Amino acid sequence: MTETLPPPSVLVTRRLAPGVLERLTPFCAVTLHDDDLPMARPELLSAVAGRTAVITTLDDVVDAEFLDAAGPSLRLVANHAVGAHNVDLAACAARGVTVTNTPGVLTESTADMAWALLLAATRRLGEGERLLRSGRPWAWAPNFLLGMELSGTPLGILGMGRIGQAVARRAAAFNMPVCYHNRTRPSGDTPQGDPRWLPLDELLDRSQVLVVTCPLNAATRHLLDAERLARLPEGAVVVSMTAGVVDEEALAAALDSGALFAAAVDNFEHEPEVPAALLAQERAVLAPHLGSATVRTRQAMGGLAVDNVLAVLAGSDPLTPIGTR
Ligand code: GLV
Repeated sequence: MTETLPPPSVLVTRRLAPGVLERLTPFCAVTLHDDDLPMARPELLSAVAGRTAVITTLDDVVDAEFLDAAGPSLRLVANHAVGAHNVDLAACAARGVTVTNTPGVLTESTADMAWALLLAATRRLGEGERLLRSGRPWAWAPNFLLGMELSGTPLGILGMGRIGQAVARRAAAFNMPVCYHNRTRPSGDTPQGDPRWLPLDELLDRSQVLVVTCPLNAATRHLLDAERLARLPEGAVVVSMTAGVVDEEALAAALDSGALFAAAVDNFEHEPEVPAALLAQERAVLAPHLGSATVRTRQAMGGLAVDNVLAVLAGSDPLTPIGTR
């Protein structure tokens, strides 16, 4: 008599986009945290025990404690994000746990959001909307809520990965010359190149509008501190698409002093907290981490996380592995 093995046990730590979970349930015993809010830590640690795979989000810290709680059955952490700063990759590698992320599928929606924020900040849409909703009197006037014109304005991009490149492509439509900085200077880079690579400090010196898209890691945490922000031209605009790279208190101070014209932030270092200093700034456009928030993208991100689970459980290579394995 052949014994049938129980299906692999998979924890999904957050409600997924429509249609995604249904692709996993025929093949696995799925435990879903059926909520839009993260699991409390003790609940997460108890729920992960004995799982073969887990689909996590950026709110779930995957560290030695998490891996201990999961135990030796855990083979895969499929992070539902392009970033992975919530995952201790070395700790996972040391225990033979594969880690995957969801690159590629959120590039266009995130670049769209960077431009939505860039436009909102340069044209003071947040201030205008708040004014109308306040019921305070207003009138069209030659000097009313004047913004920054984009055509011909230098755009700097910090981090020229997939998302940075998609931001740069859109700049052509706005007639903005683009420079960028990546840690490694690309071979074949020329002074005439467009977009053109620059050392970080030179990029900051030139960027009237700066979009930050580089991943958060030990080298980039608070890379844009008060000193580096002070290098930006007078009246510059900063659009932050990666939590933790721009020092939020320093950004608020640069807005407060009038050194910056405006700023926009899509995600925050200690979500869901938003620093009071930023909330106090009229010229800050603040978004609750919406970069990849479209139905199509969230279905694709969830779908890729599921495909990674199915591949690893079938003994195949993961589609989008990260880290040291
Ligand atoms: C951010 O939202 C990410 O997907 O890493």
